[in-house]
Amino acid sequence: MSAEIISGTDIARQIREEVAQKAREIAEGAGGVPGLATVLVGEDPASQSYVRMKNRDAEEVGFRSRQIDLPASTSEDELLGWVEGLNADPDIHGILVQLPLPGQISEARILAAIDPMKDVDGFSPVNVGRLSAGDPDVLAPCTPRGIIELLVRSGNDPAGRHVVIVGRSNIVGKPMAALLLGRGRGGNATVTVAHSKTKDLSEITRLADILIVAVGRPEMITADMVRSGVVVIDVGVNRVDDPSKERGYRLTGDVDFESVSQLASAITPVPGGVGPMTRAMLLSNTLAAYVSIEGLEA
Ligand code: GUN
Repeated sequence: MSAEIISGTDIARQIREEVAQKAREIAEGAGGVPGLATVLVGEDPASQSYVRMKNRDAEEVGFRSRQIDLPASTSEDELLGWVEGLNADPDIHGILVQLPLPGQISEARILAAIDPMKDVDGFSPVNVGRLSAGDPDVLAPCTPRGIIELLVRSGNDPAGRHVVIVGRSNIVGKPMAALLLGRGRGGNATVTVAHSKTKDLSEITRLADILIVAVGRPEMITADMVRSGVVVIDVGVNRVDDPSKERGYRLTGDVDFESVSQLASAITPVPGGVGPMTRAMLLSNTLAAYVSIEGLEA
């Protein structure tokens, strides 16, 4: 069997068009435009490129976007000051503080300071709690929301199926499990979460109808670890040295695409799988935040 490729590029484009259409309808009706603010502390090149793309995406769907770039030496109190300013700014409906933050800043303190109604990443403790309690209207993290859309829109609804997640991060693994366990769209799955301390990982991954991998280790999932017909979602984006490329590296996922795609029924590529979906769901969350802050019809 050779797997169907689940194109995040195509599905993300659809979602951006839906968001842009809804934003146009609102602008023509009630008036007003959603505003997204991104905050980047430091000069990590990958983070700089992610943040730039998020702002560009926002402008392309007709949102207002504001990019705040702060030096790596920024103190926690200074960053808190920026977050409080954005919380109070009526033109801003979504706030995203790019992670990771430099060591002198407590991520937990910053995330807790973001107004939960503007928390388009879904990382504030209020929203983490609401997601865990199964609140259907919560702003949920963008990568897991994007994966739900990839699965449902590609005809692989997780309802009733055994989903194995490899990775237990706050950004992907844990919220992914919460969404899959929920009763809403893309939920109602049976969920197992494995991680770096799991014994006999391949015995667990082989049980998966749907395998979601978010560990940040290049090509660690190999063909012997999956069963025939599995649906594979690869969240990893790893830079691997490759002198044959002009930029000196290539991007690869956490899954050995070459071998696993021979067995899987469907699989996401890297790049062009989960990455574009994360960005599209940020737009969707920003629109949802705008609708709820402004008291508009959903
Ligand atoms: N760093 C890696 N992924 C993310 C994300 O989805 N949001 C933020 N804010 N930082 C990240």
